Amino acid sequence: MTTSERPFPPGFVWGAATAAFQVEGAPEVDGKGPSVWDTFTRVPGAIADGAMADVACDHYHRYPTDIALLAELGLSAYRFSISWPRIQADGTGPANQKGLDHYRRVVDACLENGVAPYVTLYHWDLPQALEDRGGWLDRDTAYRFSDFAGLVAGALGDVVQNWITVNEPKVAAHAGYAAGIHAPGVADPLGGVRAAHHLLLAHGLAAPVLRGRVAAGGQIGISLDLTPVRPASGSDEDLAAARRFDGNFNRMFLEPVLRGRYPDDMVEWYGGTPWVWDGDLDVISVPTDFLGINYYRGHVIAAGGTGLASGSPMELDAVHVVPEGTPVTVMGWTVTDHDLHDLLVQLRDRYPGMPLLVTENGAAYPDEAGPDGVVDDLERLAYFDSHLRQTLDAIHGGVDVRGYFAWTLLDNFEWAEGYGPRFGLVRVDFETQERTPKRSGRWLGGVARTNALPG
Ligand code: NOJ
Repeated sequence: MTTSERPFPPGFVWGAATAAFQVEGAPEVDGKGPSVWDTFTRVPGAIADGAMADVACDHYHRYPTDIALLAELGLSAYRFSISWPRIQADGTGPANQKGLDHYRRVVDACLENGVAPYVTLYHWDLPQALEDRGGWLDRDTAYRFSDFAGLVAGALGDVVQNWITVNEPKVAAHAGYAAGIHAPGVADPLGGVRAAHHLLLAHGLAAPVLRGRVAAGGQIGISLDLTPVRPASGSDEDLAAARRFDGNFNRMFLEPVLRGRYPDDMVEWYGGTPWVWDGDLDVISVPTDFLGINYYRGHVIAAGGTGLASGSPMELDAVHVVPEGTPVTVMGWTVTDHDLHDLLVQLRDRYPGMPLLVTENGAAYPDEAGPDGVVDDLERLAYFDSHLRQTLDAIHGGVDVRGYFAWTLLDNFEWAEGYGPRFGLVRVDFETQERTPKRSGRWLGGVARTNALPG
């Protein structure tokens, strides 16, 4: 390290993340049952360009070389998810041993490469059979999830230390059950709020099960997608819309998980939350070891929208404004040099003492491979550089951030957007499955190796 480098704290975790459905393919291999995403990708018009994920990155078969590549880049942690229908084809009953064996091999591949496995239990691929019984609109699904968590922790808890129960319950609930743009494609605004509650209940039920089966020292958390929210103006309408947006996006998840309550203003706005039973909030606020943060962009919010009529609760009375001159990614998401920093500081101020882990951060850009196959993705590199600087500034300001996972290791299936947006550190040629590390991937690996940002 040279003196001009800016070091991260010793032991800072450097990783990359993926999700089973986005990378694995192999939908019918080794006894796997169908998930809601297998079903949804077959609905005409549901996915851009009619893309399917039956092959995706073929990671189910290529995980040994993919994990070796992650390590070769310089990263030392891999966050991946377990496909629930590989473990229980119809979401109930005994474990499918072949499914457990597969993930045991994935974990072994991590350990052989000096990579710490971070296991996510739910990254949106609900067994279709459970959806047929009501899915996340039905509280029974939360109990089925805690059974599943027990099976996985029973098989991997001796070697996996780090566990994430549920990934982005807000997106799973609001996009899946309110806006209907993700699987299972249900469009019912309050259904989204109800589904979110059951996903949080699933987290709260699973965490103690994990605690009982993971070796001493296990670290358990949930990954929430969070955003700092600013009103577009000082008008009463914009202030109220921003507050509600913050409620729908952040507070409806942070408050139950970290404080055991739902915000009164939101409960009132929804007209009550009868799906919340006595005792649920005690379950949901079970003590955990870290809060996972998936961060992509900040939001500037103005009043607008359609009211509680249709769509995701988020857009019902709020409009996202892109301030003039603010750059955006392929997803249309704004890029700023302060929002991640501000979010981390806000979280420390509101929930002091909770260790934070950035479990996803990244950006999609229109990568072009040069004639030599190299992707000189300077915009993505700059995005990582800026967001790591913001993270480091927050750490210097006293925020306890323990690690950073880039989204994502490989270009992959970006849900309803198909294969258009590429977020990977590594380019994937989906015709040949060839992998080519991008410049940003090499750069991030270098930062990880030195545990410091270049000066
Ligand atoms: C968050 C989700 O967890 C991940 O699955 C998705 O690909 C990224 N956001 C980018 O949209």
